[in-house]
Amino acid sequence: MKEIIITCCLALTSLCCYSQTQTGGIRPGEIWPDDKGIHVNAHGGGMLYADGTYYWFGEFKSDTTSVALDGVTCYSSRDLVHWKNEGIAMPVMPVGSYSDIESGCILERPKVVYNKKTNKYVMWFHLELKGKGYAAARVGVAVSDKVTGPYRFVHSYRPCAGFWPENMPEEYRSLQVKADDFKEWWTPEWRKAVEEGLFVRRDMEGGQMSRDMTIYVDDDGKAYHIYSSEENLTLQIAELTDDYQSHTGRYIRIFPGGHNEAPAIFKKDGTYFMITSGCTGWAPNEARMFSAPSIWGPWKQHPNPCQGEDAELTFHSQSTFIFPIAGKKDAFVFMADRWTPKHPSDARYIWLPILFENGLPVLRWMDTWTPE
Ligand code: DGJ
Repeated sequence: MKEIIITCCLALTSLCCYSQTQTGGIRPGEIWPDDKGIHVNAHGGGMLYADGTYYWFGEFKSDTTSVALDGVTCYSSRDLVHWKNEGIAMPVMPVGSYSDIESGCILERPKVVYNKKTNKYVMWFHLELKGKGYAAARVGVAVSDKVTGPYRFVHSYRPCAGFWPENMPEEYRSLQVKADDFKEWWTPEWRKAVEEGLFVRRDMEGGQMSRDMTIYVDDDGKAYHIYSSEENLTLQIAELTDDYQSHTGRYIRIFPGGHNEAPAIFKKDGTYFMITSGCTGWAPNEARMFSAPSIWGPWKQHPNPCQGEDAELTFHSQSTFIFPIAGKKDAFVFMADRWTPKHPSDARYIWLPILFENGLPVLRWMDTWTPE
């Protein structure tokens, strides 16, 4: 009898939760129950639209730790409100496998893109090797024939080894000043050295550091990897090969020493807009916004796109991805995470529609909204 009552209560709870999303539209900061009534577990995620369905990929987080114990999850929806749990799209490897993606590694900000030439789905993610904190600073790649997976791990590495950034002046390439020469960071001399490529030179042989990241596929089918590099001090934008599984070696640095994380990008009327955060760990900070007429720049900075209460903390969240709403002109969704490092699986999703004022993107808090 007791079991029957408990089962009935659980069924009712999940029904209530599910109907809450059905009637409530998109509710930033609330619990978002999936088709089983469980809060969506797809953090630091990205979105792929295919054949009338949105596929949301993200980090599966446990209740107690942010390291990857399971892998990357996938959820699907036709309306951005009701989400079906499609399970683990890319599992991490068992403990003792010594794989780059062994359970217990740090695997963050997965993004999936579709490659027309190979007819494969390609997943990119920030990877830190197990037990090494955030020292590895690598990017990982996995592929699948099916959008929901399973994705097969291909490789992980630091990008652009042996290549100079296209926009790094010739004279900076041969400077002799080294990272070890500085006992103290953040001094004016150190800042100047960072701007002049201190860490690019240090990492020339082994590849550039790659942490927070996103992938952008342009209208002409070219894909780009945008990532926090050089000890999180500088963003780099690098071109991917035609199969989207490696780097070509063509890349630029933007805002050297600007300390940007969490890049999210979109294009409107030929202008590329990028929203990022500063670097304060899991704690929120003020979003930054940039625009450029070409992915290769020149990039220029604009004021914080957030307006209203808590704008200076990005409404207590950090950007992760921006995607267009299918079939609607100039309708873009800003996806961000409100991290809860003490209870990682409980982190909330702050999704807001991007408004445009005087030609610039603007974000304002909304308790509830619908993609309509
Ligand atoms: C901020 C990053 O944006 C997150 O993805 C994560 O790496 C945390 N830092 C870790 O502190």
